[in-house]
Amino acid sequence: MTARDPFYTDYAWLYDAHQRGVRGDIEFYRDLALQAARSGGTVIEIGVGTGRVAIPTALAGVRVLGMDIALEMLAICREKAAVAGAALDLVQADMRRFSVARMASLVTIPHRAFLHNLTEADQAATIRACRLALRAGGRLAMNVFNPEIIAAVEMMRGGDAFEGVPTFDVSEQVIETPMPMRAPDGSVHRAMLRVRYIYRAQLEALLLDSGFEIEAWYGDFAGSGFGTLSTEIVCVARAVE
Ligand SMILES: C[S@@+](CC[C@H](N)C(=O)[O-])C[C@H]1O[C@@H](n2cnc3c(N)ncnc32)[C@H](O)[C@@H]1O
Repeated sequence: MTARDPFYTDYAWLYDAHQRGVRGDIEFYRDLALQAARSGGTVIEIGVGTGRVAIPTALAGVRVLGMDIALEMLAICREKAAVAGAALDLVQADMRRFSVARMASLVTIPHRAFLHNLTEADQAATIRACRLALRAGGRLAMNVFNPEIIAAVEMMRGGDAFEGVPTFDVSEQVIETPMPMRAPDGSVHRAMLRVRYIYRAQLEALLLDSGFEIEAWYGDFAGSGFGTLSTEIVCVARAVE
């Protein structure tokens, strides 16, 4: 995304009411962060958003450096962290070109934030930036949805985009989803969510090309192995020397 994607700028205030994450994701990332912190390393969350994952992680005793491109999301995160009494370091940064002063032992990209890389070049730049931020042996963990393209195209053929049916550019792997979001006062706001989906094998190739080895693929946050029918692709990769 650019720094001004309305989904995370104009509509940042509606994020928490509509995005609940994937079952078990907070505990999964928190536990990885606890392991990293025990090994003495720093923890970075990319696309920290409003702190849905970072705040419970900080409350569990881990110092997290949260990065996000959208100042509006960071402002909400900062306010929520203060209310919760969570110590968080927050910085505006673009996942495709960030750098850090101290090497991390864990970089996480929860809740499909990686899909905001809308080209293969952006995906590769993000993975490279993550590798440069990690010490050897450090982990990169992320989740993205498992594309179900046949069902998706059928949905598009039969649907009306204004009612929230996504449009798919299958050759570019880009999906645009109109998201009607209801505000507490009952007003409905229409935001467009734009993502580039990725297949497990494509993600694996990007990781291997950039100095990672794969530690695990899961199909959910309960530890199930990844398979065709999985709804999620959950990846843990390790930075090699
Ligand atoms: C789906 S939200 C995830 C927020 C949070 N991690 C969660 O689990 O609820 C994606 C976040 O990624 C951020 N983002 C999108 N593109 C980015 C980029 N290029 N660099 C850094 N953050 C980005 C958005 O601003 C948004 O806050």
